[in-house]
Amino acid sequence: MYQRQRFSESSGYKIVVIFALMLIVLAGCAGGAKNEQAAPAPLIPPDATGEQLFNMMILGTQAGCGTCHSLDGTTFLGPSLQGIGSIAQDRVPGMSAEEYIRQSILEPDAYVLEGNEPGTMPPHYADALNDAQVEALVEFLMAQVE
Ligand code: HEC
Repeated sequence: MYQRQRFSESSGYKIVVIFALMLIVLAGCAGGAKNEQAAPAPLIPPDATGEQLFNMMILGTQAGCGTCHSLDGTTFLGPSLQGIGSIAQDRVPGMSAEEYIRQSILEPDAYVLEGNEPGTMPPHYADALNDAQVEALVEFLMAQVE
């Protein structure tokens, strides 16, 4: 008799605990879904320098420059941008180094460097970055001279 009572007491307790756990899990799921929907793109600090922008792992909603481009001659997914400040001058006839670098950021497929696939560099920077941020990046890359 004593045993039976204990059993029913403890199983009642268990049901309450299980129910409480379910509520916590459900609340967690609902919260998670809500967060996902509202999650804004990671913020780009408005006063970031060109170098800081270049090195951000995520820029807007996509990978940042430094995840694909090194500055020391190593090829990642994209070509190294070592010396790009001087190299850019000779890429497209009639286009200055500065214009070429700016176009490379805003319209990556306008000129696809030999040996690379079009569409590899994200085309979203024109939307993700404001004019000042694009210019900060152009200035930073123009300073990478050999
Ligand atoms: C997912 C990889 C990836 C990311 C991220 C990326 N790029 Fe690129 N980028 C490439 C590839 C691949 C090329 C070569 C193909 C082409 O010309 O579009 C390239 C080309 C370039 C070039 C021309 C290089 C040359 O030697 O002619 C510049 C300049 C450049 N990227 C700058 C940037 C900057 C600045 C960012 C960040 C705002 C960035 N890239 C982000 C992959 C990437």
